[in-house]
Amino acid sequence: MKENSIISPDHRIRVHDRTFRPYIRKDEIEEMVREIALGINRDFAGEELTVLVILKGAMVFASDLIRQLTIPITVEFTKASSYGNAMKSSGTLSIEGLLTEVTDRNVMIIEDIVDTGTTIRELIKHLSGLHPKSITVAALLSKPSMHTESQTTVDYVGREIAPDFVVGYGMDYAGQGRQLDAVWVASEETIA
Ligand code: PRP
Repeated sequence: MKENSIISPDHRIRVHDRTFRPYIRKDEIEEMVREIALGINRDFAGEELTVLVILKGAMVFASDLIRQLTIPITVEFTKASSYGNAMKSSGTLSIEGLLTEVTDRNVMIIEDIVDTGTTIRELIKHLSGLHPKSITVAALLSKPSMHTESQTTVDYVGREIAPDFVVGYGMDYAGQGRQLDAVWVASEETIA
C-alpha cells in the first residue's frame, strides 16, 4: 500500500498543501477539558443541562467533555459552517438542524473554537428567542483578537490563542486533520 500517513518524520503534520507544527499537546488538552468540566459541574450543581454540540468541529471536545460531567445532561447537535475550505472564517454562516425545544432549559453551546464569534452570536440570537432558562458557551479555544464584536462572551474556555490557523482535536483544514489527538498550528511553508 502507498505510504500516505499525515505524520511526517520531521514531526510535522501534512494536511493537503500545508504543514503544521505542534501547538497544544494531548496532556495539555486533557487538563483544559478537566478544568472546564470542573467549572460546569460546580456552576450547574443541582441543575440540568442541555449541551448543544456544534458540528463538525466540536465533536471530539464534546465527547471528552460530557464524560466528565456529573450533572444530568441531554445532548443535542446543530451543524454550523463558516470556514468552508479556507483558512479564514468567511463571516457568513450556514446552520442546519437548529434546536427548537429549549424553553426553560439551561442550554450550553459547545464549540471547538471561537474565531470571529459569528457562529456563537448567531446561535445565541436564535436560542434567546426560544426563552431558555440560561445560555452559556464552552469552547476549547478562543481567538479574542479575531472577535468582531467586543461583547463576544465565552463562559468556559480552555485557552485563548493568537490568530493562528490550527487543526486537530476535531478542527480541520479543508475537511481533514480532525482525527489528531493534539492541536497543530500552520507553518509558513506550503508543500510543492
Ligand atoms: C469552525 C468552528 C466554529 C466556527 C468558529 O467551524 O468549529 O464553529 O468555525 O468561527 P467563527 O467564530 O468565526 O464563527 P467550521 O465553519 O470550520 O465548520 P466545522 O465545525 O464543520 O469544521
